[in-house]
Amino acid sequence: CRSYQSKPPLKGAIPPLAFAFDIDGVLLRGSQAIPAAKRALTILEGANPTGSKIPYILLTNGGGTSEEARCSKLTSILGFEIGEKQFVQSHTILKTIVDKYANLPVLVLGGRNDEVRKVAEGYGFNKAYTTLDVLAWNPAVWPFHDLTESERQSTKEVDFSQTPIAAAFVFHDPRNWALDIQILCDICQSGGIIGGQYGSGGAAGRDSTPQTGGRRRPELIFCNPDLLWKANFERPRLGQGGFKIAFQAVYKAVTGSEYPYVQFGKPTEATYQFTKKVLHDRFNELYGPVADRPPHVYMVGDNPESDIAGANAAGWSSVLVHTGVYDPQQGPPSHTPTHQASDVEEAVKWAIEREF
Ligand code: G3P
Ligand code: MG
Repeated sequence: CRSYQSKPPLKGAIPPLAFAFDIDGVLLRGSQAIPAAKRALTILEGANPTGSKIPYILLTNGGGTSEEARCSKLTSILGFEIGEKQFVQSHTILKTIVDKYANLPVLVLGGRNDEVRKVAEGYGFNKAYTTLDVLAWNPAVWPFHDLTESERQSTKEVDFSQTPIAAAFVFHDPRNWALDIQILCDICQSGGIIGGQYGSGGAAGRDSTPQTGGRRRPELIFCNPDLLWKANFERPRLGQGGFKIAFQAVYKAVTGSEYPYVQFGKPTEATYQFTKKVLHDRFNELYGPVADRPPHVYMVGDNPESDIAGANAAGWSSVLVHTGVYDPQQGPPSHTPTHQASDVEEAVKWAIEREF
């Protein structure tokens, strides 16, 4: 690890840089802090040439709980205050489409029981339903899963034969891929009514335009494209991107074509543009609009497909660390970072050396 040469003191100077940190595989592994993470944040919180805070935000394809709850958990794990203004998770961007669906029935997928329903309702989606609600309404929808007591207690009583689903949001990683794929296939072919007539061509047909009864086909949004992510296990785990591939493969086998969808999350431009605003506001919150030039942003990530690709496309500098998905022994990364570092502390020190 490069020795950290202290620079001539620049006390009080407005830092010329800011950081966006990925979480899984960079700051955390499972629910534990990666040791280098606390040392890196200590530098950014003041142990640096300016003596002031160097602004940073967290940008993750993770999710499943409210921003408030996740920030509180991150604060206790990392030992530094992580505020909601410093935090973007996979589905935070859904706040920008609440007006469109506030009072329309939407299906929210992922997480345990009704975790993501609560997040969706907190955003302002007032008719958010889960696939467990569907199974509680009619167990025949998917005969291979009996609701557990805790699942049943999380459900709402809804008659889905009278409730056309207007959109399906995959907030977080689904727990029961089979149940969720079955129900997505139902609503995508029937214009939103579960058990309703399929569009012309029907289930066996090759028609993929299920305009049924004049209903528009439900909008389908995925919030995290990660095929793999770094959790506690030695090898990377399948992420929400794996679920999307599985759904589209089944849907295509059944109807002859994939279902159109919107993708949010790293590396999509939508998520990075959304994050640029968050980072800009955080910098101004610390240093006011006096900053006569926007800071140079460094993204530190462990996944070339999401962190490095997205940062490079956003015009940021990118640092790929070796504590997560990417394994340097597997050869060069699929997207070339500005720099590679063993861990997030080395990444931060390299960036600061480069800027001061
Ligand atoms: O579900 C979380 C995973 O997809 C990746 O999270 O923090 O590495 O973007 P993160
Ligand atoms: Mg990661």
